[in-house]
Amino acid sequence: MKVTVSRKAHFNAAHRLYRKDWTFEKNQAVFGKCNNPNYHGHNYELIVSVTGEIDPETGYVMDLGDLAAIIRNEIEDKFDHKNLNMDVPEFADLNPTAENIVVVIWNKIRAKITSDKELEVVLYETPRNFVTYKGS
Ligand code: NI
Repeated sequence: MKVTVSRKAHFNAAHRLYRKDWTFEKNQAVFGKCNNPNYHGHNYELIVSVTGEIDPETGYVMDLGDLAAIIRNEIEDKFDHKNLNMDVPEFADLNPTAENIVVVIWNKIRAKITSDKELEVVLYETPRNFVTYKGS
């Protein structure tokens, strides 16, 4: 019997969408306002879901306090109030779109969760725009 447990989290961060190997004009044509050289911010919301068997001893799939600590250490401490392009090494050469951010987040959390569990991350960049990654 598999059950999914979820934890919500959030962080505020700035970013700029652009490619260093494109001209300003091309970046402007593709990314529009998101190419603002002075950056812009988002209130990112996160839903991290872990699916697995219920441990018969504890009744837990995973201790949500442990999951909260993983999210705090791996994501919030590293992303909150940061400039993603400049402060987060993963985005030094990777455009910090919601798609790329959710994959980076998934990889960081995946490394801290036992392999018998499935992981899904939903990332809201705005209340209406969100992306989902489940691995692969
Ligand atoms: Ni943006």
